[in-house]
This record gives sequence, structure tokens and C-alpha cells, in this order.
Amino acid sequence: MIQPINYSTLPADLHPETIPAHVAVIMDGNGRWASQRGLPRVAGHRQGAKTVKELLRCCKDWGIGALTVYAFSTENWQRPMAEVTFLLRLFDRLLRRELAEMQRQGVRIQFLGDLSPLPERLQDLMQEAMAVTSRNQRVRFNVAVNYGGRQELVNAARAIAQQVVSGTLSLDAVNETALACALQTHPLPDPDLLIRTSGEQRLSNFLPWQLAYTELYFTNLLWPDFDHAAFHQALQWYQSRQRRFGRLTATPTAQGVL
Ligand code: FPP
Repeated sequence: MIQPINYSTLPADLHPETIPAHVAVIMDGNGRWASQRGLPRVAGHRQGAKTVKELLRCCKDWGIGALTVYAFSTENWQRPMAEVTFLLRLFDRLLRRELAEMQRQGVRIQFLGDLSPLPERLQDLMQEAMAVTSRNQRVRFNVAVNYGGRQELVNAARAIAQQVVSGTLSLDAVNETALACALQTHPLPDPDLLIRTSGEQRLSNFLPWQLAYTELYFTNLLWPDFDHAAFHQALQWYQSRQRRFGRLTATPTAQGVL
């Protein structure tokens, strides 16, 4: 008899000691997934949201401390108004529907990016979700919305310059640590693994600083098809990599402190 796949525990062929502490994802291919089925593009986003939920559950169950997903880039405003409106409503609906469950599961949600152009109601909901879940420790779930990596670096540079001008930071103290501390992902460790679906092989302005030493995994699967089995495969690939961080000898993946 075929056993149903149980993904509530770490698959036996994955090593718990080198499970990534932080996984970042560029969820791509929702529109193509829908078009291939003769459906409107938004049906792909709806299905893509289910995939996010499954991945978050895997992270929680498999001991991955942080998941950061690219849900809406600063460039996505250029899509047809109807699609943008749908996506914003989908975020709104998901937050309302899933907040209690995330709270139960120990998920701490955080939004990266400039939230100020979003509808006020959605901003309030996002702030509430961040506040309500702020003490949860099982898994960190970062959702990048209206996020652009270069803009994040500009903001960090400005914040540091401001501190130097006001005398609270000396010029000598402007270093990599100071810059990392000024980013929205602080104090999370940098992602160990980046996954991008749909065959595209670029970073698209996603976490340019934080991904400097990250292992990059590209798959032709479209985002709505990226299920727990595909995630398992990505983790197998990750565990087969030797991470050298510029040195000659490989080190096992360090579990970052969350
Ligand atoms: C990229 O596919 C996907 C997006 C821009 C939206 C992602 C949003 C979700 C999956 C909804 C739920 C997410 C959260 C975390 C609340 P695409 O539209 O660029 O696809 P294409 O390249 O095939 O056109």
C-alpha cells in the first residue's frame, strides 16, 4: 500500500544539523500557471497563496527558522490596475483569514518594504498582524511588499548618515555590521538558500545585500506547483552544496541566531 506523504516531520534523508536557518523565495510563474490552464492570471495568484501556506508549514515543521517571500515588488505597480487591486485584496483577505492560525502555529509575521502607498485598511491590518504575532518564536515569516532592494540600501545609508551627522555614530563605526543593522531584515541571519521558480535566473532587486553568500536554486516549476516535494528536493540540493564563504575549505551550514 502506498503510504501518504507525511510532511509534518523532517524527511529522513535531510540532515537536521544543516537545515537552512533562513530561506528566501522569489515566487514566480503564477500568471503562466493560470494561462496554461486557460484561467485568468489572478487564479494563479490565488493558487500561489496556497503554496506559500504549505511552504510555511514545512518551515515550521522542519525547523527552518525564517522564510522570506517576495510578494510584491516596487515594479509590480506597473501591472494592469485590476491585477494590482486583486493582489492587494488577496493580501487583505489572507491576513484576515490566516492570522489566528499563524498565531496558533507560533508564526511571527513581518512586512518588508515601503507600506505607505498601500490602502490604509491594509496597512492597519499589517501593523496589527505584526503586533499580534510579535512574541511568536517558532518561525519568522517575512513578506516583502512594495519592496525594492536598492531602495532598502538607500534607506539604510540615509539612516546611517543621519546618525553620523547627529554625532551618535562615528565615521569609523560605519562598517558592514552597521549597514546590516540598518536593514529591514535585522536581526535575522542572511538567507542560506534562495529559491526562484519558473525558470528565471535573476534576483530582480530582491535582498541584494543579504543574498551575497546565499546558495541560489532555480527551478522550472511554476510557483503554484512548488509543493512540499519540490521544497524537499531544493533542500536536498542545498545540503549537497559546499559552502565556503570565500575560504578554501567548506563549512557546514551554520544555524544563524534568530
Ligand atoms: C509572480 O508571478 C507572483 C507575484 C507577483 C505575486 C505573488 C503573490 C502571491 C503568491 C499571493 C500570496 C502571497 C502572500 C505571501 C500573502 P507572476 O505573476 O509574475 O507570474 P508570471 O511570471 O507567470 O506572469
